[in-house]
Amino acid sequence: MANFRISLAVAVVHVVLYRACNALRCNCTTTQCQKTGSQCETDGACMASTFFSNGQEQHIRVCITRDRLVPPGQPFYCLSAEGYLNTHCCYTDYCNSMDLKIPSVTPPPELGGGYGPGGTWGLVELVAVIAGPLFLLCVLLLVSVFLYHYHQRAYNHRQRLEVEDPSCEHLYLAKDRSLQDLIYNLSTSGSGSGLPLFVQRTVARTIVLQEIIGKGRFGEVWRGRWRGGDVAVKIFSSREERSWFREAEIYQTIMLRHENILGFIAADNKDNGTWTQLWLVSDYHEYGSLFDYLNRYSVTTEGMIKLALSAANGLAHLHMEILGTQGKPGIAHRDLKSKNILVKKNCTCAIADLGLAVRHDSATDTIDIAPNQRVGTKRYMAPEVLDETINMKHFESFKCADIYALGLVYWEITRRCNSGGVHEEYQLPYFDLVPSDPSIEEMRKVVCDQKLRPSVPNWWQSYEALRVMGKIMRECWYANGAARLTALRIKKTLSQLSIDEDIKI
Ligand SMILES: *[C@@H]1O[C@H](CO)[C@@H](O)[C@H](O)[C@H]1NC(C)=O
Repeated sequence: MANFRISLAVAVVHVVLYRACNALRCNCTTTQCQKTGSQCETDGACMASTFFSNGQEQHIRVCITRDRLVPPGQPFYCLSAEGYLNTHCCYTDYCNSMDLKIPSVTPPPELGGGYGPGGTWGLVELVAVIAGPLFLLCVLLLVSVFLYHYHQRAYNHRQRLEVEDPSCEHLYLAKDRSLQDLIYNLSTSGSGSGLPLFVQRTVARTIVLQEIIGKGRFGEVWRGRWRGGDVAVKIFSSREERSWFREAEIYQTIMLRHENILGFIAADNKDNGTWTQLWLVSDYHEYGSLFDYLNRYSVTTEGMIKLALSAANGLAHLHMEILGTQGKPGIAHRDLKSKNILVKKNCTCAIADLGLAVRHDSATDTIDIAPNQRVGTKRYMAPEVLDETINMKHFESFKCADIYALGLVYWEITRRCNSGGVHEEYQLPYFDLVPSDPSIEEMRKVVCDQKLRPSVPNWWQSYEALRVMGKIMRECWYANGAARLTALRIKKTLSQLSIDEDIKI
């Protein structure tokens, strides 16, 4: 701890000094630096990092600007992978010239291995090296015993909860996720599109997979642990490399980060010699998808409005174009459904599965259509998608198709709302009109030819919240896409409803 404090103080002093005097010069290995003699200048720090890629040791040396040294004291860019001293930040000219070593399984016999800048170890360092890990081990043991007990208690407590109406408040007690905080800080003060790629790789390669939590056509979803926090890992089969790439690309769109859109952490393609493992790491939400949640629980009026409003919030942010250099393009989801929306601990939604999304380039009014040919889920396809009359050149039409699907999701939520002691069982939209796993043709007959929609019961009219939800749904389901509500409009209507119903969001 003391050691860390001192180096922190030194770092801060250096940063201040160098900012006051002149720019810091560092060795630099990126291709842009070849023009400047493999060096770069910065107001921040020099960084050296070493990792294995394709069986070879790779050395990276770069400049880190001051505004990227976040969070203060432990900048994300300067963190080493767990247990490895493979990343190093320093604050003197060309201090990142050294070659860091990734320790092999058996540690080298002599301790002067070269981690320290000088390569020699004094008595104090030796004692620190030996006593430090021992002390840490004890602390870890204590913490894990404590956490285990705490977890058991929380778990038992949850087991006793009424299944009917899960109150989320007590779950706020769960420990904060430092990883999320770090990424959030970085993405709001840095480039806005997430972690740099080699940090993503370092994070991904130190995740320990725990259990499988889902399977899909692309591969599997796992729960993993990283630095004591849970993360979700979507593992694509190597055949699905394009889907993996596309989804990672969309998640790294500048300024996409939003509380109602699944938080992206890292993408990694790990080559183990025989095949490539494609990973997408994101926040983990233990409630799982909205589909699972609604199957398991009914919701209160407040719960319904919270879910609906947060979903509209996420979709509005996705759809919105933000202008400027730190702006974001408009994005349409194209596969919105209750299985692709996650429920967070505070009972709000996070929109996930952006693999089919398209981005709008307003300057040229073009769409970067996903290179894969997959279309959305048939059950949730808008009428114009089913009969292929949708104008694929017009970005707005994809947004309208999303709104139609959102209306179906609202219908699923609203059926599960407890009003006057009554709620309906969970059902998928069109459950009574099409078989399970319907074909496009079956859906088209019902939705386009017969113009049927999920039924909105008359008794919903007697409850204000249900009445408003029913009205929104119908206005999401118009056959004419352009006549449908916008996500922003829905958001405003629901915000007003939550005020009328006196709900704290
Ligand atoms: C770092 O830069 C200095 C000054 O240009 C140079 O002498 C040194 O060889 C470089 N080190 C590495 C490892 O490239």
